[in-house]
Amino acid sequence: MTQATLEIHLTDEDLTAALREDVRAGLTAEPKTLPPKWFYDARGSELFEKITELPEYYPTRTERALLERVVGEIAQVAQAEVLVELGAGSAAKTRLLLQALTSGGPLKTYVPQDVSVAALSASAEEVASEFPGLGVHGVVSDFTATLDNLPGGGRRMIAFLGGTIGNLVPQERAAFLGGIRDVLEPGEQLLLGAGLVIDPAVLVPAYDDAAGVTAEFNRNVLHVLNARLNANFDPEKFAHVALWDAENEWIEMRLEAAEAMTVTIAELDLTVEFAAGEQLRTEISAKFRREGLESELAAAGFATERVWTDPDDRFALVLAERR
Ligand code: AVJ
Repeated sequence: MTQATLEIHLTDEDLTAALREDVRAGLTAEPKTLPPKWFYDARGSELFEKITELPEYYPTRTERALLERVVGEIAQVAQAEVLVELGAGSAAKTRLLLQALTSGGPLKTYVPQDVSVAALSASAEEVASEFPGLGVHGVVSDFTATLDNLPGGGRRMIAFLGGTIGNLVPQERAAFLGGIRDVLEPGEQLLLGAGLVIDPAVLVPAYDDAAGVTAEFNRNVLHVLNARLNANFDPEKFAHVALWDAENEWIEMRLEAAEAMTVTIAELDLTVEFAAGEQLRTEISAKFRREGLESELAAAGFATERVWTDPDDRFALVLAERR
């Protein structure tokens, strides 16, 4: 039908095994934690889409407006033949990049990567029919585990947008950026979208909206555990907490137990006790300073070529070259 192909390097069994491991480790740790990647089942992805439309949640629209403004410059500097997009999902802002890179440059191939086959197969087909002549090769994989499966075939730019880099703690970021450096050839590029450190009075409401959508998104991880691991969490008994950690410069989302509870995760033969008021950490969303971004990139073997920010300095797009 079209020229889109899909390579699957991550099966449902792989995902279930990873979920089991993460949940066992996280819920037996002190304090308890769960990784944010498990928010995103179909319901979680819908809730995230709703978040991006909230008046308080500025990152998505800020990055989009910035990308619209500077995408022509990015295309001109990058001269990319292959665009790899990590965590492509529904590929909404990709169209901007693809338009610029195809009309203003030598782009031949688009490689969207995501953990979700469903999200990827639909958007890969759409992109392929919207951009005739562009090869579209979707890759289903976990980029935090491996970047080995990304095809080459020309001068590459790897895009990692949306500020998702902020979900990683500094040590994980170093490992992730080092992994990208290792798959790229000298001279190839990384385009990184990152939220900047701003006034907590603007930042915190973005993660604690008045309509309660983020609270529901946060609790969704408990619905995921109930559905996939036959757990018996009562999500309504967990309150959404979002706070700014000024020392680490990240937002932390937590779920706070309203009362003492015993939860069983049947698939893991695991019973977990929550004390009244105990908090489970579900996400960090780190914010950056320009110098910090540049030095983390330098430490990983990248030279920063350009940094673009929005007029309010809330979000940055960084184009960096592998040295
Ligand atoms: C998708 C990871 C970029 O950290 O801002 C939104 C996720 N969490 N509201 C972010 C999220 C709470 C989002 N990222």
